Amino acid sequence: MSVDYKSLGLVNTRDLFAKAVKGGYAIPAYNFNNLEQMQAIVQACTETKSPVILQVSAGARKYANQTLLRFLAQGAVEYAKELGGGKNVPIVLHLDHGDTFELCCDCINSGFSSVMIDGSHLPYEENIALTRRVVEYAHARDVSVEGELGVLAGVEDEVSAEHHTYTQPEEVEDFVKRTGVDSLAISIGTSHGAYKFKPGQVPDIRMDILREIERRIPGFPIVMHGSSSVPAELVDQINQYGGKMSDAVGIREDQVRDACTSAVCKVNIDSDGRLAMTAAIRKVMVEKPDEFDPRKYLGPARDALRAVYKHKNLNVLGSAGHAFD
Ligand code: G3H
Ligand code: 13P
Ligand code: ZN
Repeated sequence: MSVDYKSLGLVNTRDLFAKAVKGGYAIPAYNFNNLEQMQAIVQACTETKSPVILQVSAGARKYANQTLLRFLAQGAVEYAKELGGGKNVPIVLHLDHGDTFELCCDCINSGFSSVMIDGSHLPYEENIALTRRVVEYAHARDVSVEGELGVLAGVEDEVSAEHHTYTQPEEVEDFVKRTGVDSLAISIGTSHGAYKFKPGQVPDIRMDILREIERRIPGFPIVMHGSSSVPAELVDQINQYGGKMSDAVGIREDQVRDACTSAVCKVNIDSDGRLAMTAAIRKVMVEKPDEFDPRKYLGPARDALRAVYKHKNLNVLGSAGHAFD
């Protein structure tokens, strides 16, 4: 039996992206794998009045089960309504880094309102053919589709690419026209994970490539993956309480902020949330070694995650206050 996302109170990305591009801000796309992450994301986005994309990776599906995650997202709408006094912030349920047509269809039929088909590792024409096929299936059901051109460095779904292949601006117009995608993920120097660069060697993200892409497809919704900033204070807290993450380095937040004022209208963040939760849990474990109630460490982890995501919405992505535009 297939489930229509609209009956769950979820929305697709189309209107949200149009408003974000016009308004010079980006919608947060936060990965979730469990109840506490979902709660923290909904709390942060309700408190800052931000629309939100809840995204599910291959790793999340393996860990938590796709159906359970969809029920959590359905619950997120009700929870957001409760927190928002009867009106929920807009919530998208998105497949992150979908790699096959069948997987995208499966998610669409089980209540996802948006999917990413990541054909970025494929030869150009194969990427187009696969993406086009997903778009045809998705659009017939009013589900939005994100495609990708260019490959990010870093670890993603247990696959790791050592070097970036930057998006070639001369391909973007042809790609979006021939595939019909609703948004395009690009590679401009961001990367997945907590070890993006060598300490002391943080390069600028390639705003020149972003500007050239925008010149060629003005106003078209652009997505930036791998946008965690790996805050030093979280890494320090992890190391202070027994962790070993000394070389973890991310993207400068001021550069993410700059990108969000342009056609970048979706920013993917996962690693910063993982760091926040890990730092909080390590602190409890060290300071209260006799504690064994999971709520006593998952609760602080949830609070820490909420604080990081409120900060992102307010000070980095600029999505705060735009839930009901
Ligand atoms: O794209 C990477 C995301 O951080 C998801 O990672 O596949 O380990 O859940 P994951
Ligand atoms: P980070 O690892 O920088 O948080 O990126 C997450 C991401 O791009 C998920 O698709
Ligand atoms: Zn990604």
